[in-house]
Amino acid sequence: MSELIEPQNNEKKEQNESKKTKKHRETPQKLLKFREIAAQAAAGASAERIKAQKDKGKLTARERINYLADEGSFQEIGALIESRCTDFGIKDKHIKGDGVITGFARINGRKAAIFSQDFTQLGGSLGLAHARKIANLMDLALKAECPVIGILDSGGARIQEGVDSLDGYGEIFYRNTKSSGVIPQISIIVGPCAGGAVYSPALTDFVFMVKGISNMFVTGPAVVKAATGENIDAETLGGAKAHASKSGVCHFVANSEQDCYRQVKELLSFLPSNSCEKAPALASSDPIERKIPLLERLCEMDPKKPYRIHHIIWWLADDHRFLEVHQEFAKNVVIGFIRLGGEVVGVVANNPAHMAGALDIDSSDKAARFIRFLNNFNIPILTLIDVPGYWPGTAQEHGGIIRHGAKLLYAYAEATVPKVSLILRKAYGGAYIAMNSKYMGSDMNFALPSAEIAVMGPMGAVEILYSKQIKEAKPEEQAAIKAKLAQEYSDKFASPYQTAAAGSIDEVIEPSESRMKLIEAFKFLKDKKSRPYSSKKGNIPL
Ligand code: HXC
Repeated sequence: MSELIEPQNNEKKEQNESKKTKKHRETPQKLLKFREIAAQAAAGASAERIKAQKDKGKLTARERINYLADEGSFQEIGALIESRCTDFGIKDKHIKGDGVITGFARINGRKAAIFSQDFTQLGGSLGLAHARKIANLMDLALKAECPVIGILDSGGARIQEGVDSLDGYGEIFYRNTKSSGVIPQISIIVGPCAGGAVYSPALTDFVFMVKGISNMFVTGPAVVKAATGENIDAETLGGAKAHASKSGVCHFVANSEQDCYRQVKELLSFLPSNSCEKAPALASSDPIERKIPLLERLCEMDPKKPYRIHHIIWWLADDHRFLEVHQEFAKNVVIGFIRLGGEVVGVVANNPAHMAGALDIDSSDKAARFIRFLNNFNIPILTLIDVPGYWPGTAQEHGGIIRHGAKLLYAYAEATVPKVSLILRKAYGGAYIAMNSKYMGSDMNFALPSAEIAVMGPMGAVEILYSKQIKEAKPEEQAAIKAKLAQEYSDKFASPYQTAAAGSIDEVIEPSESRMKLIEAFKFLKDKKSRPYSSKKGNIPL
């Protein structure tokens, strides 16, 4: 201090100058120590462990973050955290960061919180310090109101830490639930994810898996074998294919990790950062009034002929771009994101190419959860309807189609975002009501001239209404009588006009103008004001 305030003679000044230059040349010990520790933490595991990771076809935890985050944007926090556990030699390993990298970054210019489990350190297993790093990041993400993206590659609860690791999972599940519907949560499974650990991804909004390297199961192949005698490998039991097509746990499947991170970025481009924001609009040169001649063909098509609903979605969407969610699961209903006139819209559509587009247990669950996501994040809903009813049979009834089907009704009715429907062809019975019908709270309902709206299909109706008359007829005449009666029924109901006259649909529209009509409807509803009736007390039939 005195150096700064005391007047100095020239000799003294020179001495001081030379001391200062020397100081500049020598890096202070404290700084050296810090740099050494930081480098140690950043280096992670040994070269052998990194090689073992690569040999399994996997990227390292840091490489994964680099694929996801905008270049140079990742800011790590908690790099020096270590486990306090001293049992089973953990302390001797001095694992800096405790097997997970946490921090915040920008993804396509927008902020996001990211954690990435490091399998090369104690198998990415979750101990208390590891869990608390993730929990702290989740708390920060809630405060910063940005999405949380978890990259999971872990042997599960760290066995050496006993119940501490189980409690660590509890802290994460609690935050997953607290953040649900407030900020988007995305899980990327790029390695094992076993035991109760699977429930964090299951509580998040979207789960990504990569073919060949991702596994999820509550009990792995060894336990399955011990408990049931069944021989099954990890990939068949809990690989990407199983969870994308059978269990419905996985929403997106990628062929490689790089492909996976590209898909995550694309999904994020459709999502708002939190439930107070609107999804990001994107200007498009695709004309609003672009005609869709394809839809006219529905008017001449055999009503029983299947077609992939995707063709219609592609034609309606800006630049024909449709990001499908849950592509392999319950294909009778198709869900995903498009833009209409630049604004993000969530699509829920029956798909006649699969089970004739009928509703069943899985498709009701799939659509209901998506609708709830859209509603939480202020994304308007477009419903495209071509549904012959509910899929019949004992398996559906005993599997709980009543309970699961009710979720869809509940989700549509409680949603307060703009809701617009277009009936393309069939809209029968209970499924007509469930698919965002007018009196279930839809805002605007359109139908094409090809629409058929009735309590049930013609043959089913005739069998019930005229069963006595048909039984009394000669056996060789019964088919002809049925056909004639079914035709009469069709003439009455196989059109949208009776429903339009009753006011249950708002307008029958020129098919080729559908894109323009839908865009105008959503524009009109853009600032819709609607309060949920019972946001806190509702009890969805789970
Ligand atoms: C501590 C673990 C670990 C764990 C792996 N490691 N899992 N350490 N706790 N849970 C360590 C290994 O000891 C090994 O350390 C290193 O990570 C790499 O593991 P490997 O077995 O060599 O790798 P690999 O052959 O690829 O097998 C990966 C694996 C296997 C399939 C994940 O490690 C495994 O089965 N782990 C146990 C999985 C499990 O049962 N977890 C508990 C689930 S129950 P060294 O130093 O020897 O190389 C659970 C409950 C959660 O998670 C409840 C939440 C509510």
